[in-house]
Amino acid sequence: MGKSSHIVWHDALVTKSDRKFRNGHKSCVLWFTGLSGSGKSSLANALDVELFHRGFNSYVLDGDNIRHGLNRDLSFKAEDRKENIRRIGEVAKLFVDSGQIVSSAFISPFDEDRQLVRSMFEQGEFIEVFMDCPLSVCEERDPKGLYKKARIGEIPDFTGISSPYEVPYNPEIVIEADKMTIEESLNIVLTYLKEYKILF
Ligand code: PPS
Repeated sequence: MGKSSHIVWHDALVTKSDRKFRNGHKSCVLWFTGLSGSGKSSLANALDVELFHRGFNSYVLDGDNIRHGLNRDLSFKAEDRKENIRRIGEVAKLFVDSGQIVSSAFISPFDEDRQLVRSMFEQGEFIEVFMDCPLSVCEERDPKGLYKKARIGEIPDFTGISSPYEVPYNPEIVIEADKMTIEESLNIVLTYLKEYKILF
């Protein structure tokens, strides 16, 4: 199923720039990446709450949730993770076009897949946030009991155990997720958003 040659792109009449001026902030995607249990969802949701209460347009795309709906047909094999991330990249792009600050929380373990998503966005719109947390700490936390199951072979292709996680080369933000509180991490992200004039 390739792309039909009989489809034509329509440019929107309301531009991203129009939306930026009315919203009072730029749009972007904060791409949280890290091991299961590294705190991606917690930080993405804390940021969403903060931005929402400050009157900004914000939304969270979360791994577990997207896999219940849009991506319910995908497994955790490498090629399906690739498709998972590609689709989410496209969804995030739509949200960014609509003026939102999107926080996406997916393991996104492969650098190539993250680079592909980065390439979909304009300069400065894709902000990679690496949740840097040792496997031992994530495994100790094991909030969903998945590491335990992965260790005894009940879950195949589990990131960090039987499937790789490639550390980002040059993320915009690194959160030392085993050392910082949510509040400290949140401040780092908010400071970045102000410094790079996403919020003004
Ligand atoms: S990926 O790698 O980006 O496609 O994964 P993602 O869509 O973020 O989904 C990760 C969540 O799915 C649960 N889960 C697994 N994770 C990793 N490996 C395997 N095999 C697996 N099976 C289920 C797990 O709860 C992940 O959620 P988080 O929030 O990361 O803990």
